[in-house]
Amino acid sequence: MSFTIAIDGPAAAGKGTISKAVAAHFGVGHLDTGLLYRAVGKRMLDGVEPIEAALALVAEDLEAEGLRTADVAQAASKVAAIPEVRSALVDFQRAYARRAGGAVLDGRDIGTVICPEAEAKLFVTASAEVRARRRYAELSAGGAETDYDTVLADTKERDHRDATRSDAPLRPAEDAVILDTSTLDIDAAVAQAIAVVAAKRKDGDTA
Ligand code: CDP
Repeated sequence: MSFTIAIDGPAAAGKGTISKAVAAHFGVGHLDTGLLYRAVGKRMLDGVEPIEAALALVAEDLEAEGLRTADVAQAASKVAAIPEVRSALVDFQRAYARRAGGAVLDGRDIGTVICPEAEAKLFVTASAEVRARRRYAELSAGGAETDYDTVLADTKERDHRDATRSDAPLRPAEDAVILDTSTLDIDAAVAQAIAVVAAKRKDGDTA
């Protein structure tokens, strides 16, 4: 049986941590789809044409070093606005979503475009300031030299690009449950996400 859990939302809203915890709780796989765009973005920074990079992408590329930097995040959101890049990455994501046992996919368009039939959909969000504070802490802990104002400006720029692109813009699916993590600590956010998914799995049992 497959059971797809779609977790979308803007940059640094907590999707990654929540998705990992949800996948571990239900014993299913987890695909961070942002890594696909980051891998293509990184190759573009290395001088490769983005559509070619997307067509040539393989699973091992998601384990490359240096995908989490701020420069690669910006490059990712630029290549993510190219329709041919997005379409080159669809099959990989859908195959993962339908793997036996179930899967969590986190990204921007999982509930709207990649898996509109997903059994459970969450849209994880938080204020831009809270998200920038979290991302700043993450980047600083990783040794990056940056400051909060730069991270806030970057976050807003990326959100704007993601939400206004014509192909698969960032927005909640109509049937997504919105989880605002602005005032939640990570344990509370994870507990709420698990509760939403558990209720959907129960619905499935009785349907
Ligand atoms: O970790 P963070 O939320 O900062 O970013 P990410 O999920 O790794 O995504 C990096 C960029 O890839 C985003 O800003 C989007 O432009 C793009 N992306 C997308 O367009 N569609 C997805 N399903 C996932 C990411």
